[in-house]
Amino acid sequence: MVSCFHRSRGFCTALVVLSVLYFVSLLYWFHSSGSINIYGTRLEPGMLMGIESNHEIDLLTFPLAWNHLSFPSNPPQKLLKIALFVKKWPDMHHAGGLERHALTLHLALAKRGHELHIFTTSSSSNYSFPRYPFKNLHFHISKPTVAGYLDQALVWRQFQDQNTTQSPFDVVHTESVSLMHTRAKNVPNLAVSWHGIAYESIHSDIIQELLHAPDENQTNLLMARGIKVVEEIKFFQRYSHHVATSDHVGDILKRIYMIPDNRVHVILNGVDEDVFKPDYETGQNFLSNLGIPVSKSLIIGMAGRLVKDKGHPLMFEALKQIFNENSTFKETVAVLVAGDGPWSARYKDLGPNLFVLGPLQTGQLARFYNAIDIFVNPTLRAQGLDHTLLEAVLSGKPLMATKLASITGSVITRSEYGYIFSPTVDSLKKVLYEVWKDGKGVLEKKGRVVRERGLKLFTATKMADAYERLFLCISNGEKKQDYCKY
Ligand SMILES: *[C@@H]1O[C@H](CO)[C@@H](O)[C@H](O)[C@H]1NC(C)=O
Ligand SMILES: *[C@@H]1O[C@H](CO)[C@@H](O)[C@H](O)[C@H]1NC(C)=O
Ligand SMILES: *[C@@H]1O[C@H](CO)[C@@H](O)[C@H](O)[C@H]1NC(C)=O
Ligand SMILES: *[C@@H]1O[C@H](CO)[C@@H](O)[C@H](O)[C@H]1NC(C)=O
Repeated sequence: MVSCFHRSRGFCTALVVLSVLYFVSLLYWFHSSGSINIYGTRLEPGMLMGIESNHEIDLLTFPLAWNHLSFPSNPPQKLLKIALFVKKWPDMHHAGGLERHALTLHLALAKRGHELHIFTTSSSSNYSFPRYPFKNLHFHISKPTVAGYLDQALVWRQFQDQNTTQSPFDVVHTESVSLMHTRAKNVPNLAVSWHGIAYESIHSDIIQELLHAPDENQTNLLMARGIKVVEEIKFFQRYSHHVATSDHVGDILKRIYMIPDNRVHVILNGVDEDVFKPDYETGQNFLSNLGIPVSKSLIIGMAGRLVKDKGHPLMFEALKQIFNENSTFKETVAVLVAGDGPWSARYKDLGPNLFVLGPLQTGQLARFYNAIDIFVNPTLRAQGLDHTLLEAVLSGKPLMATKLASITGSVITRSEYGYIFSPTVDSLKKVLYEVWKDGKGVLEKKGRVVRERGLKLFTATKMADAYERLFLCISNGEKKQDYCKY
């Protein structure tokens, strides 16, 4: 404005008019966009415009998660014969994300009456294979290779047997590379679900390198990963359809891996909404059984494998420092830790307000979520969409998690849903203090908002609806074109 004194009146007027216009447009923008999205996602709420209008949507090129759509699922529009390839079928106690995804999804599909053939391995000798009450669920079990993969030649023979002697499969599904590209190529009615791809893992590698102790040698992790990405870009092309389990991975598959848009579909993971739901009473009982007084002002919960790459060294250090510097925090906060791993013993050293619970069965885990005020996931692994986050969401608990693109792009997309931090001790401490200051009232409010959104996106039903529709659309059957429209 100083320069106005030295310039012509006309110039000044123009400047003022321009800045007024700018402010008006800014105000209009804030108003019309409804909310300001601080984490840079472009998804809500304008994205629903296309869905709400009467325009027909071509599902195969639909850019958002299919979970946003509502598909009629009861009764199923058509029963399919589905082949699933999954490296391992989960037993009750030990299941990683990929296995739990396979279990939740395919039991839901079996329940709807689809004919399922699951090609998987038998795990350790002493393990009795679980039984399920569905006649339409068939397991084809084989011995794993030395490296623990499916024996490709063997499972392909089993598959071909089924496909030729009985009725042919409508659709083939593989969890990650369980069915390798050498067999999957040229199968048009096939979809692969990705639970972690190499490009995503580069972020984890960078974090790990930064966290290295100075006396440790650098690893060649990053260089090897770059080569892996290029390999993946080459062989991913051979799979006909790709399911990304987060919005971020959908973007990578299209942008970096150069897979055509009509072969990349985003279907976010879902968890069982009948198991994970708010229940105040059981939460309170859970706390009193542990002897935790109601006077505690904040109950923090963590669950999962208590290992280095899930960020537990960082969380341990952050809590230790805070306990040392602020006695009020130490006295008023309780931390519940579910799961096992090397850090369970270390957490115990932090004192009596750390409750190390060991691994919990599903029912116990549901009660655990109800007992806490906030769920913290300090993971350093940028791979897929962590189920624990979604379980906490459906239980109505706000989240605090690492600033990884799949998490900020699909789950904690706004500050109303929780808190995010960079994977450093300082950032983690800062956010822990912030959560503590916000207190139970703010957290409860966030919890209600987060559950409301979760019910629209992260239920097992939503996930199964979306996969069912995708399978109908890419199957060999008649009318398949109709199923590809919305
Ligand atoms: C397998 O189970 C049997 C009986 O349940 C038990 O006696 C045996 O020690 C187990 N073996 C291993 C290797 O765990
Ligand atoms: C399964 O059988 C059908 C019908 O014969 C055939 O068209 C299809 O190519 C077979 N699928 C595979 C993967 O071999
Ligand atoms: C680090 O690398 C050097 C040179 O390659 C080697 O001599 C040393 O043993 C390594 N140190 C550790 C801790 O691995
Ligand atoms: C702990 O932190 C809070 C909030 O920053 C502060 O008000 C309080 O004085 C601190 N207490 C101690 C004992 O340092």
